[in-house]
Amino acid sequence: MRVLIVYYSRSGKVKEMAEKAAVSRGADIVEIKDTVKRGGPVGFIKSGYQAARKKSIPIARIDTDIAAYERVVVCSPVWAGTMASPIRAFLEKFKYQINEAEYMLMHASRKNNYDEVFDEMDRILGKTAVRRTSLYR
Ligand SMILES: Cc1cc2nc3c(=O)[nH]c(=O)nc-3n(C[C@H](O)[C@H](O)[C@H](O)COP(=O)(O)O)c2cc1C
Repeated sequence: MRVLIVYYSRSGKVKEMAEKAAVSRGADIVEIKDTVKRGGPVGFIKSGYQAARKKSIPIARIDTDIAAYERVVVCSPVWAGTMASPIRAFLEKFKYQINEAEYMLMHASRKNNYDEVFDEMDRILGKTAVRRTSLYR
């Protein structure tokens, strides 16, 4: 099965998870890049605010043909109890090109699995993901 791993990572943890998943599954991998500076405390606050407001901000162009893959594994950090803004933008932009979806979330909370975030991702895509993985680190 042709699998594409798509991820956004601000501080490298999701990147590491996504890269491991790509190697173990023999999948291709694409990083989502956005246009907002998210470093430092100001970037942290801005990111939390944008996520909480469910803002969809522009992401850098993706040249990969998303529709050519049977499954797309979408990997996001949790920001302010929801998906990272660049991931929201990706799902909105490519929902019609994603054949089968799978999600991987990474967060700092041991207690919360963030099931409601997966539900929201499904709502944006208009389909039910085949697999949901929630990891804390
Ligand atoms: C702006 C912001 C908001 C966050 N909000 C949450 C949160 O609500 N719950 C949580 O468990 N972790 C939260 N985190 C922690 C990240 O989800 C966690 O550190 C993640 O592994 C970071 O991935 P990255 O290194 O790929 O950017 C937040 C991190 C940032 C930067």
